[in-house]
Amino acid sequence: MPDFSYNCWWRDGVIYQVYPRSFKDTTGNGVGDLQGIIENLDHLVDLGVDALWISPFFPSPMADFGYDVSDYTDVHPLFGTLETMERLIEAAHDRRLRVVLDFVPNHSSDQHPWFIESRSSRDNPKRDWYVWCDAKPDGSAPNNWLSVFGGSAWEWDAATGQYYLHSFLNEQPDLNWRHEGVKAAMFDVLRFWLDRGVDGFRIDVAHYIMKDPEFRDNPARPESPEDFFKPMGEYATQDHLYDKGHPDVHGVFQEMRTLADSYNAIGERFLAGEIHIFDVAEWAAYYGRAGDELHFPLNFGLIKAGWTAEAIRRSVDALEATIREGDWPNYVLGNHDEPRLATRYGEVQARVAAMLLLTLRGTPTLYYGDEIGMLDVAIPPDRIQDPWPLRSGILEINRDPCRTPMQWTGGPGAGFSPAAAEGSVPEPWLPVHPNHTHVNVEHQQADPGSIYNFYRRLLRLRRDTPALVRGSYRPIESPAGTFVYLRELDDARRLVALNFTDEPKLIRIPTDLAGRLEISTEMDRAGESVAGGVLALRRHEACLLS
Ligand code: GLC
Repeated sequence: MPDFSYNCWWRDGVIYQVYPRSFKDTTGNGVGDLQGIIENLDHLVDLGVDALWISPFFPSPMADFGYDVSDYTDVHPLFGTLETMERLIEAAHDRRLRVVLDFVPNHSSDQHPWFIESRSSRDNPKRDWYVWCDAKPDGSAPNNWLSVFGGSAWEWDAATGQYYLHSFLNEQPDLNWRHEGVKAAMFDVLRFWLDRGVDGFRIDVAHYIMKDPEFRDNPARPESPEDFFKPMGEYATQDHLYDKGHPDVHGVFQEMRTLADSYNAIGERFLAGEIHIFDVAEWAAYYGRAGDELHFPLNFGLIKAGWTAEAIRRSVDALEATIREGDWPNYVLGNHDEPRLATRYGEVQARVAAMLLLTLRGTPTLYYGDEIGMLDVAIPPDRIQDPWPLRSGILEINRDPCRTPMQWTGGPGAGFSPAAAEGSVPEPWLPVHPNHTHVNVEHQQADPGSIYNFYRRLLRLRRDTPALVRGSYRPIESPAGTFVYLRELDDARRLVALNFTDEPKLIRIPTDLAGRLEISTEMDRAGESVAGGVLALRRHEACLLS
């Protein structure tokens, strides 16, 4: 059993992801900033989350909107200064909110001074800080590895006559984590932020940092109609055996955990890794054999499963059956790389998804705007910003639609940016959804039945109900198209019943359950008692019972 004798924020709490470009613009340049986050921390307190994870705000040429870092220990002037960030940490802590940063270890920007030095000559001391290889005798790339964003993962450097590796854009050269100097420098980056009070890190494409030291070719993989990587075009034609996830990665995470734990005397620091691995056992290895690596690998299993009761239950059961007692689950349903919840599943279904996310056993991560049911925005081709569709030519992969400005008010520009509010230029970096006239924080706070108030109420129930935070998970049999489970702690029990279909369903509830309805996704049944041991679920409704 995990040790529940102390309050552990990353296990008991709820994490909220802020994409800083799109949260709140206080300078009027059309791009969100850190001051905008500071001014809206009370929104997170009102909503009832416990931690915020902020996507990269470091100096960057913005080839991949901040995931191409040119200085890991400073702030891009677009977002503010180091002093603004220090104020943000303090303001968050004053409100008992934890702060999680995005750590991007796999690659830097090609404008990072380390890479500028590395590419300056073959005998530069930083040459081996990145992954350089000779061409094949015919001049072609060293092997068949592909970039996630399209094309070969190797870029020829004519000046020094070698190829360098980039698992993403050619402006994002991969760092060589086998070099002790890189590891030491990157660990210093972690210390820099930990010393400033940061509570933890979300580690970008964490498993990519170690590749096959022999640089073997990836084998081809057969196409499957249900392939998660399908929209990724050529990238999906390989089994990515050798270009990421080499077992040596675990040693790095053990060392990183030791570093994070060395700060425990002054508050627990946390490491979560972005790990897109869908073999549950392989994925779970990132907790570490002795629970000594990541606090958790982020779990994207629900997104991959698709929106049916059966597939979702299979995903949850597989995780519960695989992880060991001390490992703590977590669930993700949205982030800056995925279509928005309400677009993926539907606006009514988004509430059922929220009930699922906030009542499963494990830490939930929410994505900004999902609390008001924001939808993807259709981006006109001439306004596409995301380099992925632009470079790969696969437009369906565009991630801009889920990264549009937060909808604060029904006023011009949704109150995202003062310039837009005054009707002056520049426009926000991505268009605001036209539905902001009613889908916005201000409007929904005042509407007792809104999705915002559903999230708010459910987050409070969760916080006040130890069985929901720490209780065990036990699925119970239920009609097709529904998913029902118990969360149990000592004598306390809660039952969650979710209807994934557009037909009403009858759910038999255990006779020893009091049968009092605590909350329904429709916000109109609290206090109802469930007569006769049968709960009538409406179409696309979910209920929590005590
Ligand atoms: C991660 C990020 C994504 C980024 C990529 C490359 O997957 O979530 O936004 O483009 O890494 O850094």
